[in-house]
Amino acid sequence: MILTPLDEPALARLLEAAVAGADPLEVMPPADGPPGWTAQRRAAFLEFHRARSLRPETAVERTWVVDVEGTAVGAARLERHGDAVEAGIWLSRDVRGRGIGKQVTASLLDLAKDSDATRFVASTTADNRGARTLLSGIGASLATEGDDVAAELPLS
Ligand SMILES: CC(C)(COP(=O)(O)OP(=O)(O)OC[C@H]1O[C@@H](n2cnc3c(N)ncnc32)[C@H](O)[C@@H]1OP(=O)(O)O)[C@@H](O)C(=O)NCCC(=O)NCCS
Repeated sequence: MILTPLDEPALARLLEAAVAGADPLEVMPPADGPPGWTAQRRAAFLEFHRARSLRPETAVERTWVVDVEGTAVGAARLERHGDAVEAGIWLSRDVRGRGIGKQVTASLLDLAKDSDATRFVASTTADNRGARTLLSGIGASLATEGDDVAAELPLS
């Protein structure tokens, strides 16, 4: 597994991975219109990443394509919030449950430790056992409030 920094060619590969193996709601905010990977939703996916990562005027996070043997299988991100850095991951359905999420989480944690952030945070939902296991596996403390789970790990 390697993390490839997002650029336009990597974004095109990422869209293919998302369309082939993920639900839109797992990988981007809700968008208007009929469900599924419509042309409108594909365009919104590209715009979402351009605005959040690629366009310097609007960028708020660093995004990487998760590549396995040269194929895009998901994305990883780090977003700064004050003294904290927030991590996010999604993987394509057919590669879930093979330990890739664990490797990506470890890489994101290393990248966060290399920054001057003092806390590593992530949010997920109570029913997301995979994400909760990944986060507790790195030693994060998990706080549950209703359906929401907030994970936090001090960086030193
Ligand atoms: C959550 C996600 C990133 C996990 O990645 P993954 O590669 O499937 O996870 P791994 O194979 O590395 O598994 C890590 C641990 O979680 C456990 N796990 C993974 N998926 C699980 C599941 N669905 N139910 C229970 N445990 C699960 C594994 O057994 C493993 O535990 P271990 O360390 O004790 O052996 C991936 O399933 C995913 O992309 N899901 C959809 C998007 C999403 O939910 N993103 C996270 C939002 S916060």
